[in-house]
Formats: sequence, structure tokens, C-alpha cells
Amino acid sequence: EKGNYPHFMLKEIFEQPETIENAIRGRIDHEMGTAILNGMNLSPRELALINRIVIAGCGSSMHAGMLGEYYFEDIAGISTSVEQAAEFRYRNPIIEPNTLVIPISQSGETADTIAAVREATAKGAVVTALCNVVGSTIARESGRGVYLHAGPEISVASTKAFSSQVVVLLLFALLLGRNRRLSRSEGNELADQIEQIPELIRSVLLQAPEIKKIAERYADKEDFFYIGRGCLYPTALEGALKLKEISYIHAEGYHAAELKHGPISLLDERHPVLALANDIPGKDKIIGNIQECRARKAPVVAVITRGDSAVRSMTQDVIEVPPCSRFIAPLPTTVALQLFAYYVAVARGCEVDQPRNLAKSVTVE
Ligand code: F6R
Repeated sequence: EKGNYPHFMLKEIFEQPETIENAIRGRIDHEMGTAILNGMNLSPRELALINRIVIAGCGSSMHAGMLGEYYFEDIAGISTSVEQAAEFRYRNPIIEPNTLVIPISQSGETADTIAAVREATAKGAVVTALCNVVGSTIARESGRGVYLHAGPEISVASTKAFSSQVVVLLLFALLLGRNRRLSRSEGNELADQIEQIPELIRSVLLQAPEIKKIAERYADKEDFFYIGRGCLYPTALEGALKLKEISYIHAEGYHAAELKHGPISLLDERHPVLALANDIPGKDKIIGNIQECRARKAPVVAVITRGDSAVRSMTQDVIEVPPCSRFIAPLPTTVALQLFAYYVAVARGCEVDQPRNLAKSVTVE
């Protein structure tokens, strides 16, 4: 039931502090400074042997996987690649005995991701899935994995499942990192940061009225670029996907460094840019990108860290998120982008929960 919310999407956006608490509950061990993911069912020996990770998913689940790549490489030092699940199946991927394959799927019923699970299993990979729907095909066929505990996601646009996927990937990176190169105190520091995510998201949700005002000013645009760097690059892709799927505005996510390699030729007053300028490493470069956009008269909406004045002189349209590390920043930022997409779509009179041409789970190839 929608309760007091006009749409399931808004309800699910606002549920995220609780759904993330559910994803974390019982999964952090402060004594050892690590994560406990029993469903993974990997022995310490199996964990230690993993020398490569391949993540497969579609849409938002693939974007979560792209964040997983940053986490596994940067936190745990394990070489990781992300595949669109359909590619995984058809391009004869290299799976070695110590390759761990992680399919990610909210529904657990996405045809391409099921096919990737079957391909990986046939090639002898260790497969551990991240699913939301309990007992779904991918959860069953993988045999082991972690549930997201986000509760039913009704809105076609994925919100709370995505944030829980990212949190579970962080927990898994913590576990693998402690298994390898992280000290107990470093592990605990990351664990503390993960436990603060629900509070960070609450503080973004409190700004919904301001985000709505900005969204309404941009609702008549027909094109949008989203740019980010580091962990905010997959975040930009996810933000752009959310906007295009529910508002029917053409939106493209780009790595900010790619602007100069082509898309900048499009920029003018009709092509707004949503820049992720949080105060994390790479911020100075993003500020340079914002100046390049402004020089071409492109309107800029910037996500910044609360209290940071560096971007304020360049645009009035800023959305503030609370301070946090580069690993955590995608979560509050994504929630801000979900709200932005939602309010743009509402202002355009779109069917937010049931966008045209889309189904909640894509069970055909
Ligand atoms: C985007 C969206 C889709 C799904 C994709 C995968 O908001 O909902 O892109 O993320 O179809 O679905 P699952 O995660 O169920 O495999």
C-alpha cells in the first residue's frame, strides 16, 4: 500500500533509511572489524583464494555492480570487472577456478542475468547472487548469496533495491578487505561509515522540498547530461537512467572527463548538466568541468557537500548532501537524484510508477 504517498516510487525513496538498516542488520562484527554475510557460504579458504570477481547485471543493478568494482578493487585489492549480463553470456567470458561471479538482480527473474548465472555455473565459477526477491530464480539457481531485505519494490524505477545492492557490495568489500589487506581498525572505520548511511539519507530526504523546487525549474528541458568522477561516475549513470525512464527526458550519464571527447559540442542553454561536485577526491576537476559548461551557457545543477562554498558562485541550483567519504558518497547522492527525477516526472505529468514501454522485470531477452 502507498500509505500517504502519491506514488510507490516516492514511498520507496523515503523507505531507504529503514531498508538500508535492514540490509546492514546483523551483518557487522565490530569485534573483528568485518562483515558477516552467512548466505555467501564461502569458507575462509574459498574467500582467500578468490583472485578475480566478475559482476553481471542489467540497468540499475549493473550500475550498482560498477560501484562494486570500485569497492572490490580499492578496498579489497581484487581485480573486478562488470558485464552487462547479456554480454556475459554471449562473449565467452574467461572464468578460472578462483573467479567469483556475482549476479545482481532485484527481481531475480531478469532473463539475461539468469542466463549469465547458468553460463557461469557451467564454466565452474563460484556464484554468489545479490537478490531482493526471496526464492527467485537467480537466488535459487545460484545456491548461495545475500538477500537485500529491501521489501517489495513496486515502482518500476528501482530505488531502494539499488541502494541496498550498493550497501551489500560495500559489506562484501569490507569482508574481503579484512580477509586480505585491511587492519581491524581500518575495517571498523569502514563499518562505522556504513552504519551512518541511513542517517545521511535521512538528511537528504529532509531536503525534498528544495529539490522539488529545482526540479520544477528544469521540467521543461528535453536533454540532460549527468557527469561524475570516481564512485560518482556510476552514480551519474544511475541518476540519468532514473530521469530518462520516468520523465522521458533524454538524459545521458558521462564520466566528466569524457565531456571534452565529444559531448561538449552539444552544450548550450538547452542542454543542462547535472554535475556531481561532492567534496571528495576529484572535486577540483569537476569544478573545472562546471566552468567549461557554464562558458557554453549550459545551465548547471550541482550536487555539493553541505557547507562547501566552492561551487556556489557558479550556479544557484545546488543540492546539498552531508559530508561523507568517497565510498559512501554514491548513496546520499543517489537519493538526491532519485528525488530530482521523481519531481521532474511529476511536474511533467508522467505516470511515475508505470512508465510507458517498461515492465518491472524483464523476463525475455
Ligand atoms: C531501472 C530499472 C531497471 C532494472 C533492470 C534489472 O530503474 O528498474 O534498469 O534495474 O531491469 O532488473 P533486476 O534488478 O530485477 O534484474
